[in-house]
Amino acid sequence: MLYSDKVLDHFTNPRNVGEIADADGIGEVGNAKCGDIMKMYLKINGGMIEDVRFKTFGCGAAIATSSMATELIKGKPIEEALGLTNQAVVEALDGLPAVKIHCSVLAEQAIKSALADYYRRQGIDPEPIVGKIEECEACHSDGE
Ligand code: FES
Repeated sequence: MLYSDKVLDHFTNPRNVGEIADADGIGEVGNAKCGDIMKMYLKINGGMIEDVRFKTFGCGAAIATSSMATELIKGKPIEEALGLTNQAVVEALDGLPAVKIHCSVLAEQAIKSALADYYRRQGIDPEPIVGKIEECEACHSDGE
């Protein structure tokens, strides 16, 4: 089987899908290579990720990883969301096929982009905290 039970579960029944009308941070990232787009909404209160929602126009792996990523940061301090790596998301899903690893990067970057927006709204330069929002190397390196 190409995909783990957890990947299939999160793909067919994604958690935290939707928008947050009064979000404190909104991030949007795209994967130039496949054209997939992910939007992430955060509600932040007292340094905690109180709520998180996402919308993904993308492949099954992108949907499953965003779903798992939201589960991993919901109710957690901002610091934990900042430290979330795509590897951690992939591990929590019991792995992804190698060609789909780049899809998990989209989820990590969408969260970082939403956190950057959160800091920007408070007049804080997000780059020293969040770092640069970049596509994964895999997306650059194969071919073009
Ligand atoms: Fe585009 Fe998976 S193929 S994110």
